Amino acid sequence: MTNRIINILRQGKPEQKIKIQGWIRTKRELKEFAFIEVNDGSSLANLQVVLNQDLPDYQTMVKRLNTGVSLAVEGELVESPAKGQKVELKADKVEIFGDCDAETYPLQKKRHSFEFLRSIGHLRGRTNTIGAVMRVRNACANAIHQFFQNKGFLWVHTPIITASDCEGAGELFTVSNLNFEQILQAKKEKIDYSEDFFGRQAYLTVSGQLEAEIMAMAFENVYTFGPTFRAENSNTSRHLAEFWMVEPEMAFCDLEGDQNLAEEFLKYVFNFVLNSCPEDLEFFNQRINQNVLSNADNIINNEFARITYTEAINLLEKCDRTFEFPVEWGIDLQSEHERYLAEQLFKKPVIVTNYPKDIKAFYMRLNDDQKTVSAMDILAPNIGEIIGGSQREERLDVLESRIADLEIDRDSLWWYLDLRRYGSVPHAGFGLGFERLVQFMTGMENIRDVIPFPRTPMNAEF
Ligand code: 4AD
Ligand code: MG
Repeated sequence: MTNRIINILRQGKPEQKIKIQGWIRTKRELKEFAFIEVNDGSSLANLQVVLNQDLPDYQTMVKRLNTGVSLAVEGELVESPAKGQKVELKADKVEIFGDCDAETYPLQKKRHSFEFLRSIGHLRGRTNTIGAVMRVRNACANAIHQFFQNKGFLWVHTPIITASDCEGAGELFTVSNLNFEQILQAKKEKIDYSEDFFGRQAYLTVSGQLEAEIMAMAFENVYTFGPTFRAENSNTSRHLAEFWMVEPEMAFCDLEGDQNLAEEFLKYVFNFVLNSCPEDLEFFNQRINQNVLSNADNIINNEFARITYTEAINLLEKCDRTFEFPVEWGIDLQSEHERYLAEQLFKKPVIVTNYPKDIKAFYMRLNDDQKTVSAMDILAPNIGEIIGGSQREERLDVLESRIADLEIDRDSLWWYLDLRRYGSVPHAGFGLGFERLVQFMTGMENIRDVIPFPRTPMNAEF
């Protein structure tokens, strides 16, 4: 049986016989023995292994033990004289799986820029920072499932291929198996999607919401958690072309209930990750952003601010900052506005509600003023929008007139309209950008560094 290094560092006792496997981070050679630090991805800290010269083939073996080598070590745990670790492993037997050339191995012992690490996406998981990110990411996913499962929400699997544009922003990737070469050669003027695989134009989904609504109309409380895709040509530190989204949808719920759930949800996830990855968060606090721990504390222990869009515009108009994008009622809030509200003014997450209908999607519930919709966005310090949600339009006639105004193809949404015909109920939901959550939690600057394999304009490597 092999042991994960995290368990050994937490619970290992002197005199225990164990076997570990992993990759060498560093080696130090002294006269009579050598130390190697081994990491298996289970924790930030490495396990120190001591190699005595009475091991078989000591000289040749130690020469091979470069950074990056994969190996298994069997031996006995001994009390460690070194600071910061209780035990170290005294090796009885070393088995090398894969050698690693010290000259060409891209991960040298110095600090590398995140940009450089992105170019070696196949190896960067072996660094401290990306390792910590991936463990926090995993803990966030675990927390999300636990939160919803504890509340009795059904996890539903919404499709990745769809024929509808939920957000209506036209940022769709087409899914097709047409032979474009042949179409070009035949000099056809138009692409005939009725000949395509699905007999119509199909896309990668931008959101699982519409299908989650279907499921909520049978199971009351559901959530979907999966990849979503946007052909948004924005090269920013907060946009990906492929990102994961968590979308709960609740029947018999209004905008107030939606906000309450979103706030409770974020608090739960932060608390969970603080408890399950303390070393990793400590690392982020020390190395990446010194506000990581105080930020987590702030999320867990303070109520979020709640304001309407109109109040937000008033606050922005009154403040002494000049913005690149001028502020007036009706504008879509830009990242600079969102960050000013969350970072400078409230210094905590802010929930903004009741946006103008003209800047929001067709499915949001029209308010009595006929000008605004029951939308809510949660704006977070350093991130801006982290959650977007709304109460949904449950009234058939109002929805139909919205769809007509926006010139959306009504026929393709027949089933969505049907739900308003047969047992319609008030309902609400939201979408959390999973990578933005991981950024928020870790203080990582660039969204490309919180997903294993980022997909961005002009980049689909690995
Ligand atoms: O605000 P959005 O577009 O909302 C929806 O898609 C709704 N259908 C959700 C719902 O009500 N069920 O996206 C939701 C969140 C944003 O707040 C943001 O955190 C994230 O998804 N997001 C992105 N994350 C990374 N890269 C992108 N290109 C993103 N676009 C949106
Ligand atoms: Mg949004």
